Amino acid sequence: MSKLGDFDAVRKDIASILKKKGYDDGSIGPVLVRLAWHASGTYSKEDETGGSNGAGMRYEEEGGDPANAGLENARAFLEPIKEKHPWITYADLWTLAGVVAIKEMDGPEIEWKPGRTDFTNKRYVPPRGRLPDGAQGQDHLRHIFYRMGFNDQEIVALTGAHNLGRCHKNRSGFDGPWVVNPTRFSNTFYKFLLNLKWEPRKWDGPFQYSAYAPGMDEDDEPLMMLPTDYSLVQDEKFRPWVEKYAADRDLFYADFAKAFAKLIELGVYRDEDGIARCDKRDAKGSYIPAPKKSSSTGARPNL
Ligand code: HEM
Repeated sequence: MSKLGDFDAVRKDIASILKKKGYDDGSIGPVLVRLAWHASGTYSKEDETGGSNGAGMRYEEEGGDPANAGLENARAFLEPIKEKHPWITYADLWTLAGVVAIKEMDGPEIEWKPGRTDFTNKRYVPPRGRLPDGAQGQDHLRHIFYRMGFNDQEIVALTGAHNLGRCHKNRSGFDGPWVVNPTRFSNTFYKFLLNLKWEPRKWDGPFQYSAYAPGMDEDDEPLMMLPTDYSLVQDEKFRPWVEKYAADRDLFYADFAKAFAKLIELGVYRDEDGIARCDKRDAKGSYIPAPKKSSSTGARPNL
């Protein structure tokens, strides 16, 4: 066991498990980034519920939300880290894993602060349906992200995370990666959004866009964009940010780092001692371990 509070030891161990032959594109980094984002993206500034405090995805109410399909894998991948460093809370571990994964995949350094605690019961788990639906457009994006307290520029910056990873038919129903090298952070997502010839994919799945990058041929797996991604170039306020980030990688990295740091702080209200108590009335300071048996909230990989 590492020393209490030795987050560098946790960071090192997270970095050491990212590469994984046979899983997707050879890295669990992208799905860890998605875990950090979905843990945080339930926040509502209206009533200050949701957000990354609490690690509510351990409960079926949140973990079983169809929007979180596939994230049981991410949680299971992190279980050995939790066992080795039992003092870290799941809420801290899931957000830290996203930050470490982004950095290790050549992304920016993102500020991360500890102090999150885990719910000890499901009373404060946010309702389902707060995460964005890729089948929709710009109005929906604004509705969801304004509720979290983000503006148009931050929406465009955050969506740049779709430089990483892929869609899975058996998770979201969508299919394919956004870029050619989906385990390396970059601003290619914006360049491709602007420059490739996107056409509706002809298939029996949900509506999505499809294109090939120069150098790819018909035998290659096509690239994809969700309707929400594509709305970033259709909307007159979003589009200038897509153009800026496509042209200026450093600006994108700086803005993404700021927006992601803000994202993982949503719903984290720390006391003077730096601890963000989930509920001051009934917090007992004890943690509920993630269930280990297979279930939608379970910790067994479902590969
Ligand atoms: C703008 C609204 C967003 C929508 C509608 C959306 C939707 C989706 C969908 C449908 C998938 C595919 C899931 C699967 O089938 O496995 C996905 C994957 C992903 N999303 Fe988003 N997303 C959004 C924003 C974000 C944000 C803000 C981030 C992080 C900052 C993010 C990071 C990721 C990553 C890294 C993956 C790849 C996961 C993997 O490879 O397993 N997304 N997203």
